[in-house]
Amino acid sequence: MMRNHGRLVLVPCPYQGHISPMLQLGTCLQSLGFSVTVVQTNYNSPKHLNHPNLTFLSIPDGLSDDEISSGYHTSLVLAINVNCLAPLEECLVRMMKNQQPHEELVGVIYDELMYFAEVVANRLELPSIIFRTNNAATFRSRDFLLQLMIGGHLPFSDSASQELVPGHYPLKFKDLPISNFGISENILQALTNMRNIRTSSAVIWNTTDSLEESPLAQIKQECPVPIFSVGPIHKFDTAASSSSLLEEDTSCITWLDKQARKSVIYISLGSLASMNVSDFSEMAWGLANSRQLFLWVVRPGSVIGSEWVESLTNDYKEAVQSRGCIVQWAPQKQVLRHEAVGLFWTHCGWNSTLESICEGVPMICSPFFGDQKVTARYVSEVWRVGTHMENKWERGEIEKIIRMLMADDEGEETRQRAIDLKNKVEACAREGGSSYNSVKKLVDFIMSLKL
Ligand code: UDX
Repeated sequence: MMRNHGRLVLVPCPYQGHISPMLQLGTCLQSLGFSVTVVQTNYNSPKHLNHPNLTFLSIPDGLSDDEISSGYHTSLVLAINVNCLAPLEECLVRMMKNQQPHEELVGVIYDELMYFAEVVANRLELPSIIFRTNNAATFRSRDFLLQLMIGGHLPFSDSASQELVPGHYPLKFKDLPISNFGISENILQALTNMRNIRTSSAVIWNTTDSLEESPLAQIKQECPVPIFSVGPIHKFDTAASSSSLLEEDTSCITWLDKQARKSVIYISLGSLASMNVSDFSEMAWGLANSRQLFLWVVRPGSVIGSEWVESLTNDYKEAVQSRGCIVQWAPQKQVLRHEAVGLFWTHCGWNSTLESICEGVPMICSPFFGDQKVTARYVSEVWRVGTHMENKWERGEIEKIIRMLMADDEGEETRQRAIDLKNKVEACAREGGSSYNSVKKLVDFIMSLKL
């Protein structure tokens, strides 16, 4: 039997795009000999039953219904950092009092946005490690943004928005992860806190050298503690259980089973993005007019002013008939892995992007806010495995891009590059690859913190 290396406490940020990679990391570390306890807020708590190898504990988050429904995510994160400090401390003190000798608490791993966990770890003289669920390019661009903010250079002019950001090629000013997240003082505070290492002993990063060699090298040069780039972390999650907060509709897999190889475009805009009815309609007709098969995730509430898809007319439904399958939430990794899927229209959330890259599926990039714009630029101009749809959504253009990427000769190079990139990233996660080695070094590092 494998020796128990002790217990790790994981503190995820309660959003889908943060919960999934943290639970994947937890499952990976559990399979390598650690006991793992996930301390979660009541708000957006993951489904425990899907993760029998992890222990879950809840702490009160003190969030009111009004705060939760406000949609100001930065404010929520700031409130959690204040409200959860004492409850986490009490929770860890209780754990330490009751711990078995072979399951001694060896450290705390916290999402970069849950920095209150570092304060608690410090008070209890426990080592702490930061987990960054986003990419290195975004981290660097946030640093640049901070400099602009502090220097009083925000907002920048419309004419500047198309210019390249110095030292961040190929990012343009308009790609900076800036908009839609509450008021700017909050952003400044959250950005400053999340980039600060404080007394943490290391950084774990859900990215890989094969995708981000240059931004990672620059960050490593400046970072005072070791960085373990272990991405894509879902490749090390041996259980591969679902971490979805919403119910996955698996009927879409049965529908995919009936379709020809690489014949389906999969569309999902992640867990937070929302659009107006007019964009939704352009999207719907672009898909219909492309005459390709499509599997479309329309998250309830993601079309502003609608519950779900009631704005789609009978004309539309007749036009697409059996060519389209629409669901509220899909088992995305399974969908992308399915041989019927040939293209992913995505908002470029970092998890979705990694999942697509790992399956060699080319992308249409429609970023909405924050880091998604940085990632879209990398997908289209650095890795060149997708097309960035930068203009206002218009059905004719949507139809053209879908056709180009799915069927035309013009899209062949992009499709081939997507397969090459998949192979490159897969090699990182295989024995001897850079991420594989990083995971091993991370385990040794955590063990060394106990001495
Ligand atoms: C948010 C931000 O939007 C994103 O930019 C940041 O990188 C993380 O936080 P989100 O919108 O949740 O991300 O997107 P993403 O990071 O792609 O994560 C979504 C997760 O939900 C993915 O792991 C995806 O597989 C999963 N998903 C999505 C499903 O399982 N089913 C679906 O139908 C849609």
